[in-house]
Amino acid sequence: MKPWPYPLWLAHRGAGKLAPENTLAAFRVGAGFGYRAFECDVKLSKDGEAFLLHDDTLDRTTSGQGSPAEADWAELARLDAGGWHSPPYAAEPLPRLDQIAAFCRANGCALNIEIKPCPGFERLTGEVAAREAQQLWQGALPPLLSSFKPEALEGAKAAEPQLPRALLLDKLWDGWPEVAEALDVVAVITNWRLMDAALIQRLHGKGWRALVYTVNDADVAQRLIADGVDGVITDRVDFFTP
Ligand code: G3P
Ligand code: MG
Repeated sequence: MKPWPYPLWLAHRGAGKLAPENTLAAFRVGAGFGYRAFECDVKLSKDGEAFLLHDDTLDRTTSGQGSPAEADWAELARLDAGGWHSPPYAAEPLPRLDQIAAFCRANGCALNIEIKPCPGFERLTGEVAAREAQQLWQGALPPLLSSFKPEALEGAKAAEPQLPRALLLDKLWDGWPEVAEALDVVAVITNWRLMDAALIQRLHGKGWRALVYTVNDADVAQRLIADGVDGVITDRVDFFTP
């Protein structure tokens, strides 16, 4: 297997649940706990800006409503993406990917960009995320581009084939190894419940690294690390020392 440059521990959505997910405030909290690798969810505004948001709608984690694919960035930039979490974070804005890149580069942090397209924008989101990653991380460790959506990874591969890609799996669906092969991935990231020593060995046998999300339990983490997992995405930045 090729050398693996990413830290073992990655903070999920910035700092898991301690701060509003997918905001710069969350990245600051994660970094404050010593984390030097982060996972975040990236999608596109109507006018094509890559920014951080998990859900298909704005409703749960911002002061807005409806699909972000129907809002221009100028509109999204005015939303409160922190008040839903707790009062100290009120008025925390949604971050664009370039702001996250600046934070990561300034603080020596690695990034896993989960390409999380709004429905219908899978390929385009992959293309834009990869193009921006290429421009924003020049000369630095590139972000690992992952997605549950093969089409998004196809877009990323077409745009910037040299950037590292990972297939995300929430179940072991028929044909996933062939898809991972065709996407020329460097890693497969599964729900931790799917991962065991046999699967890790199988992935390693293909030359792919094995990562897991979202591990918040010490016994689970200990087992998977003993089994040889290469990356652990966690919400519990306050509990697991990276
Ligand atoms: O990228 C791993 C993990 O974040 C995938 O699940 O729903 O938290 O984005 P989700
Ligand atoms: Mg995610």
